[in-house]
Amino acid sequence: MSPQVEAYMTGLLGRHDEPVLLEMEAEARSTGFPAVGRLVGPMLELLARAVGARRVFELGSGFGYSAYWFARAVGPGGEVHCTDGDPGNERKAADYLGRAGLWDRIRYHVGDAVDSLRAVPGELDLVFCDIDKAAYPRAWELARDRIRVGGLYVADNVIRSSTMWVPDPSAARGAAEARAVDLHNRQIAEDDRYLSVIVPTRDGVLVALRTS
Ligand SMILES: C[S@@+](CC[C@H](N)C(=O)[O-])C[C@H]1O[C@@H](n2cnc3c(N)ncnc32)[C@H](O)[C@@H]1O
Repeated sequence: MSPQVEAYMTGLLGRHDEPVLLEMEAEARSTGFPAVGRLVGPMLELLARAVGARRVFELGSGFGYSAYWFARAVGPGGEVHCTDGDPGNERKAADYLGRAGLWDRIRYHVGDAVDSLRAVPGELDLVFCDIDKAAYPRAWELARDRIRVGGLYVADNVIRSSTMWVPDPSAARGAAEARAVDLHNRQIAEDDRYLSVIVPTRDGVLVALRTS
C-alpha cells in the first residue's frame, strides 16, 4: 500500500498505547522482526471479536505480537494457541504477554506449526496463518475442516509484492513461495464452504468465513 495511506491509517490507531504493546513494536522495528504491525493487529482483534472467538489457533506466533490482539479478543477463560519453531520466541512471548496480563489465555507450542495444529484436538473459532509461505497450502488443507461454521480462517502476506500476486516462474527469487501462496489463495477462493476476500492492507490479509 502507498506509504501515505499506511501512515494515515496508522495515525488513526494511536490510542493503543499500552507500554507492553509499544515495547513489542519497538523490538520488531529494531530487529526487523516481521510482526503483523499496528495496521493488522487491531484487524485481528476486530475479526476475532466479530465472530465471538473463544478458541484461536495461530500458525507462526513469534514473540506474541499478533497473539496480544487475539488474547484481548477471546477474553478471560478464552484460549489462544501459539506456535513457533524457536523456543526463544516462547520465552519472549511469556515475558511480554505475562506483563500485559494475558499469558493465562495462551497455550504456546514449540515445534512445526502445522504438526501442532494436527496435535491439538477440537473445533476452532479462528485460525490465523503467518508461517513460512511454502507451508501455506498445507496449513489451509488442515485448518479448513477444523474451523466451526461461522468461524474464520485468516492469513497474512497473501499478496506481499508483485511476485507474490502474479507468480512469475522465471523469477528465481521468491518464485516457489509465490506459487505456494497463489495455490493457497486459489484453493480458498474455490472452496464453496467459505466466503473469502483479500483485504489489501500492508502485505494483504486473506479473510475467509466458513458458511457451511
Ligand atoms: C511472520 S513471523 C510471525 C509473526 C507473528 N504472527 C506476529 O505478528 O508477531 C513468522 C514466525 O513463524 C515462525 N515459523 C515459520 N514457519 C514455521 C513453521 N513451519 N512452524 C513453526 N514456526 C514457524 C518463525 O520462527 C517466525 O517466528
